[in-house]
Amino acid sequence: MLKRTARRGGVAILMAATMLSNAAFADTNGQPTRAAIAADTPGPVYHKEMFTQFAEHLGNGIYGGLWVGPDSTIPNTNGFRNDVVGALRDLSVPVIRWPGGCFADEYHWRDGIGPQSERPTRINTHWGGVTEPNTVGTHEFFELTRQVGAEAYVAGNVGNGSPAEMAEWVEYITSPAGTLAEERAANGHPEPWDMAYFGVGNELWGCGGNMRPEYAADLTRRYSTFVKVPEGTKVMKIAAGANVDDYNWTETMMKVAAPMLDGVSLHYYVHPAGGWPPRAPAVGFDENGWADALERAWHMDELVTKHSAIMDKYDPEKRLFLAVDEWGSWYAQDPGTTPGFLRQQNTLRDALIAAINLDIFAKHADRVRMSAIAQMVNVLQAMILTDGDRMVLTPTYHVFEMYKPWQDATVLPIEIDTPTYSSGEYELPAVSGSAVRAKDGTMHVALSNADATEENTVTIALNGAKASRATGRILTGDRIDAHNTFDALQTVRPMPFRGARVNGDRLTVTLPAKSVVVLELN
Ligand code: AHR
Repeated sequence: MLKRTARRGGVAILMAATMLSNAAFADTNGQPTRAAIAADTPGPVYHKEMFTQFAEHLGNGIYGGLWVGPDSTIPNTNGFRNDVVGALRDLSVPVIRWPGGCFADEYHWRDGIGPQSERPTRINTHWGGVTEPNTVGTHEFFELTRQVGAEAYVAGNVGNGSPAEMAEWVEYITSPAGTLAEERAANGHPEPWDMAYFGVGNELWGCGGNMRPEYAADLTRRYSTFVKVPEGTKVMKIAAGANVDDYNWTETMMKVAAPMLDGVSLHYYVHPAGGWPPRAPAVGFDENGWADALERAWHMDELVTKHSAIMDKYDPEKRLFLAVDEWGSWYAQDPGTTPGFLRQQNTLRDALIAAINLDIFAKHADRVRMSAIAQMVNVLQAMILTDGDRMVLTPTYHVFEMYKPWQDATVLPIEIDTPTYSSGEYELPAVSGSAVRAKDGTMHVALSNADATEENTVTIALNGAKASRATGRILTGDRIDAHNTFDALQTVRPMPFRGARVNGDRLTVTLPAKSVVVLELN
């Protein structure tokens, strides 16, 4: 429950009183931010699938960004560029969602198998009206997952495809025997692939068919029935879920289709300055633009809380998971870029958006067991931007790298009595955080300070844990729109952090303005 109290001339959000009221705190600088970590009452697993990446046939998300073809002068392996794949491997990307997005809603898988030179050219009606050569299809996607070391999340076409087409695609991918398996073998892959996740459509309320929830839920039952994998294997079926706060969608999908499913999705994008299409620039924004976006990032907490409560009604055992399989920032695309390609620069503001979301997912990890940022390369809040043979890692990439210990770690509940930070009409918690015990037993704490100008000292009670050393890294910059370019690759990069002290069960961290800090406690 949120409780508001006056503080520092503004308003503070007391996240919860339980842990904090029992802890004794030193007042290091007059008014430190108080926090407590319940290391003695560990929470759920923070599933590695929370770091799923979304790769759509959109702009240069696939072509140019990942795929350059085996004959390219850009170093590649079987057509996928080595620099980008190497950077993704370094992130330990657990799952890749493909081929869309809206693109999936009218994708016909047979267009993307067989000799590449014989594949049909289609129009990508959603994204720029450009031609889609189908050079990257099923075999190439699974080659990408192999190279990255990720599992596959294939999104099926409920929009304008048939249940039979979907069933045959699943059989082509997963079956060890039969005519479709023989066709797959003839196309170069005798062994079936493992397909961990299958999306039963995408955005059925919008580009996936503009359906009403009742109709979408009925279709979800029907199509799911025919998503069958061989004995002894398992695919997790994820329904096309709600748009932002469409709680009736989740209610209807759960009521009608839950028994056929393993997960239900949710899509929510941050697009500051309101309105649609997004008009706010990705760089060159003022402090209000910073605060606006970060306030909207915090809206994820309310959305997940309310959608989860609906799922609880129909699934109190939490058999199904909520897959937030599209999230991130969506700004006006960069000036001079191809219309419809959703190419945007990525700044320190995006790093904060990433950290806030990853922290929110920790709070809800009992229900949210997958999230997929949109998107992986060159599109929206990307990890990586490319230009010809050049590649740059974004601030968002660095946050994902810093949070790697969260993959399959155990959540340690954290409560933060944070002051608010405000600019103009926008107001949000200044400090966000999450804590985990990693698979190797070490404790990690992430803290970010959204305040664009003021540092924030946080005093954390480690309930049930003691440490003598706190080491870590910080991501910050000299400007709120600090970013990396092809000529300045390292403007925003993690640096050693020396602002943390730990003494037994007390951790004190001085967070500079506009920063993300990740610590390891020993
Ligand atoms: O990520 C871009 C688009 O956003 C996706 O194609 C669609 O699912 C969503 O509306």
